[in-house]
Amino acid sequence: MTVAALDVSTFAFTEAAPAKVNLYLHVTGRRADGYHLLDSLVVFAGAGDVLHYQPGPTPLQLEITGRFGRALDSSAAGADNLVLKAARALQELCGTQAHVQGGRLVLEKKLPVASGIGGGSADAAAALRLLDRAWNVQASRADLLKVAETLGADVPVCLLSQTTRMEGIGENLTPAPHLPECGMVLVNCGQAVSTPEVFRRREGDFLPRATMPDGWSSLADVVTFLKQQGNSLEEPACVVCPPVGHVLADIAGQDGCVLARMSGSGATCFGIFATPQAARQAADRLEDAHPAWWVWGGGLV
Ligand code: C5P
Repeated sequence: MTVAALDVSTFAFTEAAPAKVNLYLHVTGRRADGYHLLDSLVVFAGAGDVLHYQPGPTPLQLEITGRFGRALDSSAAGADNLVLKAARALQELCGTQAHVQGGRLVLEKKLPVASGIGGGSADAAAALRLLDRAWNVQASRADLLKVAETLGADVPVCLLSQTTRMEGIGENLTPAPHLPECGMVLVNCGQAVSTPEVFRRREGDFLPRATMPDGWSSLADVVTFLKQQGNSLEEPACVVCPPVGHVLADIAGQDGCVLARMSGSGATCFGIFATPQAARQAADRLEDAHPAWWVWGGGLV
């Protein structure tokens, strides 16, 4: 069921599903099965979907609400939804129904779908964290990561939801130094971009693995490092979805923006600012200038 508004204030459990942002993304190679090998520094923004759960006697059901709930088709809340797949995968991990309960899950879809900032992967990861807690499964982190891997390449990093270097196709995760306080703007032009198509159109050599410093002494330090890296998928995404180029130029042109890039396979782009407040001000200006765009400004988690 996809609904416009729903009272979740009495629900017992809530879990945030923060947006993942690829600060840089290098395609470093290609596996025999066609999947691309990546090297990426991933951070999480204060923007995100929210998952609510009320245990109950009915079989587990999912309802979707929020600004982008309508962007999902009517079958989106069905058995194929990553949230319900995550619930089933966790049940299988338990190996027994002892912990498992039914009830209602409500997903507040606040992030644009198919937009390069996690979305469905963040929702699946939030479902694993929430149901592990609600059902008192107490799965080990290693087991949850293994389950996450079966749900999608970005689900393991979203399970951690902290600054992480992601390699392989997403299964190889290393903690990365936390960024100094800064602000971030996220902008999506409203056009969904097909990940396989963007990968297909990528041209040129594979990029090397980045040499990551052990820590950051200042935001300027981070920006200097990021300026030496890039997103291998930015150019092909601009071909598939030309508004990405305009969005990048508009973010970069904002007062106080120190770096503008695309996240994942697009189309969402981000800008880095000195403070969350400066990011919110830039977001307000961008929203006024482009009311049809989804714009968010704030800090990192
Ligand atoms: O991870 P996701 O399911 O969004 O990937 C969709 C498609 O994008 C894959 O089927 C593959 O064609 C391509 N892809 C890839 N290399 C990756 C991730 C995705 O080639 N690391």
